[in-house]
Amino acid sequence: MSDGDIDPDALTEVLAGLSLPQKTLSPKFFYDAHGSALFEEIMRLPEYYPTRTELGILRQHGPEIGRAIGPDAVIVEFGAGNVEKIRLLLDVLEQPRAFVPIDISGDHLNEAAAALDAAYPGLTVLPVTGDFTKPLALPEHPVLQGARLTGFFPGSTIGNFLPDEAEAFLATARAVLRGGDLLIGVDLVKDERVLHAAYNDAAGVTAAFNLNMLTHLNRLVRADFDPDRFEHRAFYNAELGRIEMHLVSTLGQIVQVDGQVFAFTAGETIHTECSHKYTLAGFAAMSAKAGWRTARTWCDAKSWFSLHLLTPA
Ligand code: AVI
Repeated sequence: MSDGDIDPDALTEVLAGLSLPQKTLSPKFFYDAHGSALFEEIMRLPEYYPTRTELGILRQHGPEIGRAIGPDAVIVEFGAGNVEKIRLLLDVLEQPRAFVPIDISGDHLNEAAAALDAAYPGLTVLPVTGDFTKPLALPEHPVLQGARLTGFFPGSTIGNFLPDEAEAFLATARAVLRGGDLLIGVDLVKDERVLHAAYNDAAGVTAAFNLNMLTHLNRLVRADFDPDRFEHRAFYNAELGRIEMHLVSTLGQIVQVDGQVFAFTAGETIHTECSHKYTLAGFAAMSAKAGWRTARTWCDAKSWFSLHLLTPA
């Protein structure tokens, strides 16, 4: 796409989302270059416990996790995420053979691939550009022929899917991994004050991350959102077990997207993200519906976050 061109798929999706009674935009629109940098900052915030807690579990239980996965592993990561997490995992594995990160963004993939290529000389790194929520073929590389695959999906990104999407992802992952296990990070239900603080940090980074979606869409689908006329709102919806992020219109206003007009009343919101929090039993039940059995679960001392090793049922 050259500068000034519109992404037609994004446009269709944005127009449909803004036409719903509850205006909704997909959290994938958070992640332009600035949004990704803001998310990196979020992961280092004192209030944002998930990244730190998951890294702690990987450090504390690493050797056991390594033994449970076994030697000669081929790790397939869904989304080229945090390089620190994949390094912690690779460091506890006995002679990992290959690392296959799958990500829709080539930039992210190349960064992850380059960092690991240099650090692990014996490891074959095979980046795949694609949408990991859809069935996709892995590269036809000799190192993958007949190999036992292990999926890795850290960060509780699964929490950003609605429950039926999460179940569909787990079923797709089972097909992609062709009989292999899946190590997945899942954020847990906890004291609402902890959850609230994690998505309403004092420094306002999460607010900037949420509002950046509007700036991104102004470029991506030729919209004219004024971010100064919206506010960040995040709250825990206990009934649905999820944090919801919204952008609140601070006044009555008109916004245009590629020439189409959308009216906002004062206080009306755009729903931008759900971040589901699971119980261990709830997550096991959902995995079972997608054809997985929970082989092992590791948690931190406060039971704030969990890592699950799922195996085909
Ligand atoms: C990427 N995902 C797991 C984050 C979450 O916690 O749901 C995204 C995020 N949104 C606000 N802060 C972080």
